Formats: sequence, structure tokens, C-alpha cells
Amino acid sequence: MKHEPYSTRRSALLKEIGDGVAIVPTAPERVRNRDSHHPYRYDSYFWYLSGFHEPEAIIVLLGCNESNPFARSILFCREKNAEREVWDGFRFGPEAACTAFGFDAAYAIDEFEQRLPELIANRRTLWHALGHDTSMDAKIIAALNAVRTQTRAGKRAPGEMHDLREALDRMRLIKDAYEAGIMRRAASIASAGHVRAMRACRPSMAEYELEAELGYEFRKRGADGHAYSPIVASGHNACILHYVENNKLLAEHALVLIDAGCEVEGYASDITRTFPVNGRFVGAQREAYEIVLAAQEAAIAEIKPGAAFIAYHDAALRVLVQGMIDLKLLSGSIDGIIESEAYKPFYMHRTGHWLGLDVHDAGEYKTGDDWVALQAGMALTVEPGLYIRPGDNVPGHLHGIGIRIEDDVFVTAEGCEIYTTAPKSIAEIEEVMRRD
Ligand code: GLY
Ligand code: MN
Ligand code: MN
Repeated sequence: MKHEPYSTRRSALLKEIGDGVAIVPTAPERVRNRDSHHPYRYDSYFWYLSGFHEPEAIIVLLGCNESNPFARSILFCREKNAEREVWDGFRFGPEAACTAFGFDAAYAIDEFEQRLPELIANRRTLWHALGHDTSMDAKIIAALNAVRTQTRAGKRAPGEMHDLREALDRMRLIKDAYEAGIMRRAASIASAGHVRAMRACRPSMAEYELEAELGYEFRKRGADGHAYSPIVASGHNACILHYVENNKLLAEHALVLIDAGCEVEGYASDITRTFPVNGRFVGAQREAYEIVLAAQEAAIAEIKPGAAFIAYHDAALRVLVQGMIDLKLLSGSIDGIIESEAYKPFYMHRTGHWLGLDVHDAGEYKTGDDWVALQAGMALTVEPGLYIRPGDNVPGHLHGIGIRIEDDVFVTAEGCEIYTTAPKSIAEIEEVMRRD
């Protein structure tokens, strides 16, 4: 593996922390039940700075100061262990990890607590995600106290604590070319998964059978698996935003909404498609689908450098509200309905979010009162929807229709580029699902 993209990010972060010291642990392994573990997933910040996938690892970054003219990045990781490697597989060990991942030094993880006081001593600032992992907080507090006992020996504990996430979130918001390449692959694999599900779909199948098609395609094409719990929601289940049971049968004349994306080298894709179980949109489904698609197109037209993050949501919302009026779900003016939030029973979420190592990725949406302005290199989703539960004044033929269309979009210098390619116009979907 090339370590440059990761070591370059460490160098960039070292510039941010001045002469301070930063501590970035990876995620712990989690027990699922008794002695079975959840599949291991490293911490996103740790991964962003290392590309190192083993559990029980910590990065320490040391900025330069008068006594240390060179910034240094240090890795603590598990030692080689012939016996454990027979059971659990290869471990790099500090020596090999140091070289492979471009660190200046590496030590056994068991030495972390003993070495930490020395590493933080005489640094003015300490950067850490305080409160994220209380056992790490306790180790840092113990190290601070250990340094404080050495004042007579001329040691000083850092006097300023900074939340490391602020600096890292700013960096993670703008994707570099290496990340964009990985995200393009994640988008392409997830798109293929959605096409496979459309092709496989038949009335009376269970929702989980479509989930299986997605999982097959993701793994077959080399993704690590799902980036989040997939939603395969047929009929009125599509109106439950986080439906993940995926255990109902597909009714012949229903729509099915699939929200599923894969993870590639830590990066998520996030796609939603809604299509008819029998391959043909009819009546109100068609009308409602066209409204959501038009909302998505209006949103995408607003994504360009300099635009406020909220602009694409506002554009989608206007189209959706006009659609709600056309479908006779609501009456009144677009502005009045938006002002009173009368649209919320039918559209209750925002039109998208940052996308990256986390499906709802790191990064601020507002600075002070202002929405963040889009910049080239930002990655976001565009996911308008329309969810019509039975209710007062809801025409019966619309009951249980739930539609969302979600794509992954990169802001470019000129505007934006859509990375996800699964079919989404009615004609394209019906063509992919044609069985003759
Ligand atoms: N799949 C999570 C989301 O769309 O935000
Ligand atoms: Mn999303
Ligand atoms: Mn999604």
C-alpha cells in the first residue's frame, strides 16, 4: 500500500497543531455476544491519518518546537505474536508497520501509557477527541498528572486542550484526489448492486432476497461490504425512514425503496432507488416518482462552488411542495406551505449530507449563522423523497407510497459531478427491469 496520501495528511495536521501533541486512537473491537465480535471497523479519523487497519493502535503526532526542530509521527500498535497470528492472522508489529505506513517511529501498544508522559511533557497544547473514548481520556489525564508531579525536574504539562476533531473535520470535508478515486469506485460498485437488485426483483420475493443481491454484488466486486444497514422497504415500509427489518414479501403492484451503499477502503457510497416490484410504474406511482426526480434535478442544478449548503435543499423542497399541491395533499402557496412547515408529514428530512469515511461524514454545515459555502472537492448526497402515510385528507390512491432518489455528488470547479450511475428515470428503470 502507498502510505503517501496518509502521511501527507499527517504532515498537514502537524502544521495545524503547531508545537502541540495530538493523540488519535483507533476504534476498539466490540463483542457481539459472548465470544463473537462485530466485524472490526477502524476509527475513521485514525484511518484517515494512517491507512492502518489493525485494532489496538494509536497515533501520536508531535509538532516541532525549540527543543525538537522536526515534527514526528509515532505509531503504537500490537507486537508480532506468532501464536495469536495462527488464530487471528497477520500483524505488522511496530517495526514493519513503521516502514509500511511511513511513521518516524513505532512502539508496542503496551508501552503507550508508560511513554505518554514523556511525549506530552513540555508541549503547550494537547489535541485529542475528548469525550469520545473515556478509557483514552483517563489515560491522558493520568499522563497529565504524571507530568505535573515532575515540575521540580523542569517538566510542564500542556496547559491548553483542543478538540482534534475540529481540525480533522475541516480537512476531511475537502476530499483529495486519492479519496475521490476510492469514492468513485464505491459509487460504481453500489450502482451495480442496485442494478442487480432491479434485475432480480420479482413479485412475492422477500425484501431480504434483494438485500442478498446487493450484498453479493458488493462483495463480488471487492467492496468490504455494506457501508450501513441496508434498507429494502416495499410498499408502505418505504414511509419508515430507517426501516431495516427487510423481511416482508414484495407485493406485485407495490414500489420498493432500496437505500444501500458499500464501503471501499473505508469510504461509503450511499444510493437510494425506488422502483416498481413488477417493473412497471403505474398511475399515482408514476406521478409521485416524477415529482421526486424533478426535485432531485432542481437540487443538483444548485450544487456549485460558492453556493450555500442549504441552497440545494431549498430548491428540492420547492419542487416537492409544488408536487404536494398537484397531488392534492396540500393546498396554498409554496411560500406559505414552506413557512408553516405543512409539508413535513410528507418530507421530513434534509436533502443530503456530507459523504466520505462516514456515511454521514464529518464536517460542519454552518459557521456561526451562515451555511457553509460549497467548495470543489466536497462530496455530498442528494436525496429528496416523498412519503405518503394514510392520514387525514390524504387521497386513498396515494396511501403507502414512499419514494426517495439518492445520488452521490462531488463539487467540482465548474459545478458538480454525479458519481453514482444506477438508472433513475422511469424509462431507464423500466428498461433495466424488462423481462421479455
Ligand atoms: N443511508 C443513510 C442516508 O441516506 O442518509
Ligand atoms: Mn444519505
Ligand atoms: Mn441513503
